[in-house]
Amino acid sequence: MNRNNQVGMTPETDGAGRPPFLSIHGLHKRYGSGAAILEDVTLEVGAGDFISLIGPSGCGKSTLLKLVSGLTPITQGTITVDGMEPANAREIMSFIFQDATLLPWRTVQGNVELGLELQRTMTVEQRRKKATELLALVGLSDVASRYPRQLSGGMRMRVSIARALATRPRLLLMDEPFGALDEMTRDRLNEELLKLRAEQGWTAMFVTHSVAEAVFLSTRIVVLEAKPGRIRRDIAVPFGFPRNESLRSDPAYLALVGEVSQALRELKKPMSGEGGAG
Ligand SMILES: Nc1ncnc2c1ncn2[C@@H]1O[C@H](COP(=O)(O)OP(=O)(O)OP(=O)(O)O)[C@@H](O)[C@H]1O
Ligand SMILES: [Mg+2]
Repeated sequence: MNRNNQVGMTPETDGAGRPPFLSIHGLHKRYGSGAAILEDVTLEVGAGDFISLIGPSGCGKSTLLKLVSGLTPITQGTITVDGMEPANAREIMSFIFQDATLLPWRTVQGNVELGLELQRTMTVEQRRKKATELLALVGLSDVASRYPRQLSGGMRMRVSIARALATRPRLLLMDEPFGALDEMTRDRLNEELLKLRAEQGWTAMFVTHSVAEAVFLSTRIVVLEAKPGRIRRDIAVPFGFPRNESLRSDPAYLALVGEVSQALRELKKPMSGEGGAG
C-alpha cells in the first residue's frame, strides 16, 4: 500500500479508489544542466488536505510549488492536479508568493479584482461584487480604496490572500505567506486562514520555516532535506478542525512541535560533510 512512498505515509485516497487530488510521482528537478534540486519526490495529497513543506533554505520548497503550478518545467516524473497536468490545471490553482506582490498603482479593491480580470469570465459589476465580498471576508472592507503602500504588512498579505481566493481555487499554493510578519499578526492570520479553508474547502500546499505554524495549520507536515531535495519525513497532524488559539497550549500540540523540530535538527547531522545554507 505504501510502496509509492519511501517514508511510508499512507496516501489519502478516497474509498472509491480514485487517484488523490494532487499526485507527485518520482519527481526530479534540475535547472538547466545544474545539480539535482529535487530527487525522487513522491507525494500524494487528498482533497481538503493542508500540507506544510518545511526544510532548510535551498532544499527546493519553492521549486516544488512552482512545479505543481506549472511555472517551471518538470525534469523527470509526473505531477497531476485533479487528474490534469499542471499546465492544464491553472484555472483551479492560485499561488501566493513568498513576498506579497501587489500592484502599487492599483487600490486594494483593484488588486483583488486582478485575477478575475485575467480570467475574463465576469462582468465589471460581478468582479466588483466578488472583490467586495472577499475583502469583507479578510477584514479589509474599510481600506478597499487605499493603495498597497498605505497598508501594514499583515494587511498587504490579507489582500494577497483575497486576490488568490477570488478565482475560487481548489488548490492553494502558498510560499511563506506570513514569513515577514510579527508573531502575533502571524498567529491571527493563521486562524483566519483556517476559517477561510473551512468556508471554501480548498486543498493547500504551504511552505513555512515555522514549525509552530506548520503544526497549527496542517493535516500533514512534509520535512524535506537539501542537496538534493528529498522527502525525509511525512508527519500526520492528528488534531481535528476547527482549531483555535487554545490548541497552541495543548500538550499534544507542543509535543508535536517538539517532534517536528527534532526531525529538522536531525537533518543538520551531516551525511556528506557539507554544511547547510543559512
Ligand atoms: N530559476 C532558477 N535557476 C537556477 N537555480 C535555481 C532557480 N530557482 C531556484 N534555484 C536553485 O534551486 C535551489 C532550491 O531553491 P528554492 O528556491 O526552491 O529553495 P527553497 O527551499 O524555497 O529555499 P528558501 O527556504 O530559502 O526559500 C537553490 O539552490 C536555488 O539556488
Ligand atoms: Mg523558497
